[in-house]
Amino acid sequence: MELKKVSVRHSRVLSGMRPTGRLHLGHYHGVLKNWIELQHEYECFFFVADWHALTTHYDDPSIVPAAVWDMVVDWLAAGIDPERATLFVQSRVPEHAELHLLLSMITPLGWLERVPSYKDQQEKLKEKDLATYGFLGYPLLQSADILVYRASQVPVGEDQVAHVELTREVARRFNHIYGREPDFEEKAQQAVKKMGKKNAKTFRNLQRGYQEQGDQESLGAARALLESQQNIGAEDRERLRGYLEGSGRIILPEPQPLLTKASKMPGLDGQKMSKSYKNTIALRDDPEHIAKSLRTMPTDTNRVRRTDPGDPDRCPVWQFHEVYSNEAVKQWVQEGCRSAGIGCIDCKQPVIDAVLREVGPIQARAREFEEQPDLVRRIIAEGCETAGAVARETMKEVREAMYLNYE
Ligand code: TRP
Ligand code: SF4
Repeated sequence: MELKKVSVRHSRVLSGMRPTGRLHLGHYHGVLKNWIELQHEYECFFFVADWHALTTHYDDPSIVPAAVWDMVVDWLAAGIDPERATLFVQSRVPEHAELHLLLSMITPLGWLERVPSYKDQQEKLKEKDLATYGFLGYPLLQSADILVYRASQVPVGEDQVAHVELTREVARRFNHIYGREPDFEEKAQQAVKKMGKKNAKTFRNLQRGYQEQGDQESLGAARALLESQQNIGAEDRERLRGYLEGSGRIILPEPQPLLTKASKMPGLDGQKMSKSYKNTIALRDDPEHIAKSLRTMPTDTNRVRRTDPGDPDRCPVWQFHEVYSNEAVKQWVQEGCRSAGIGCIDCKQPVIDAVLREVGPIQARAREFEEQPDLVRRIIAEGCETAGAVARETMKEVREAMYLNYE
């Protein structure tokens, strides 16, 4: 049990967001609240995927910088804590690009052409010419983003799971090709010895349990034992991870997707909240504007007059109650709507209050950051430093494994 905890503590979470400018309640409920929780449990790296934005917006890059800073301010305002999480901008850590290039050498074209988002997005964004090399390579750039930090967990929505899956395949292929050293077996044996007699014996037994009987518990226990060893350096650890499973060195570990539950946050029209539907409430919208948008949002179309009974299941306001209201309020809505006991304006008031209560502190914090642009820049500069140090470490090993160390 003790050992498991150690390995959990060492797992690293990484996620990125394309710079879409000011964030809305859909982002807050769907992504940010999750990140805020994760930063308390894991080492977290969160970055602005500005190069990713260029894969679809290469013809209009001038809008990207403002979108980057707006998004970072919203992250901070929402409660992402730079003391806990490393926040940075992708293009400020050029190692992402180097790894992308090197991974491109071993990635079969078919793997990229088969990623569902490739065709889907081309269909969806018909007005854009996305028959570019950069757009095809988008998921591989994402793989580089993840692997350059050797992240173990990647919080993503359903639509991004295929990209994490690709990342796993690319990592496996990389380790298979470049993790084979001529004297691997010997080096691995030496590394096992460094664990000390007792641990070495346990490790060998667990390894046998896994390799001869396919026992997953032995594998898990051996991994945990390995991660808890203080005497073993990074390279030996990679060797032993691979040795344990009967492969070569694991230079780029395979990440797991951490599937974020789809948010129930509806837009003002009841569809998913999204900028392209023009149905959003932005975190930094003026409270008066938010109240007005909610007051004028559509309701059950059968409730033409105040005296007509309605049906919450046909009303987007009800979906807001599902997010914001307690049982008592929800019951009041159900009964009042169906009996025409309450009017729609009455019904909306608790939602308006709840949304304003939610964005109030976020807006107050956002104002503080808006007034201190230098602070925001410093937070990002520091995050880029921290991220760069980790990325450089990985690239040193990647270059060595690919015979690119000319020092
Ligand atoms: N492709 C992701 C999106 O569109 C953004 C992203 C880029 C990302 N690189 C990443 C997410 C790495 C997680 C990990 O939402
Ligand atoms: Fe919708 Fe509430 Fe009006 Fe019923 S009373 S139609 S749930 S806004």
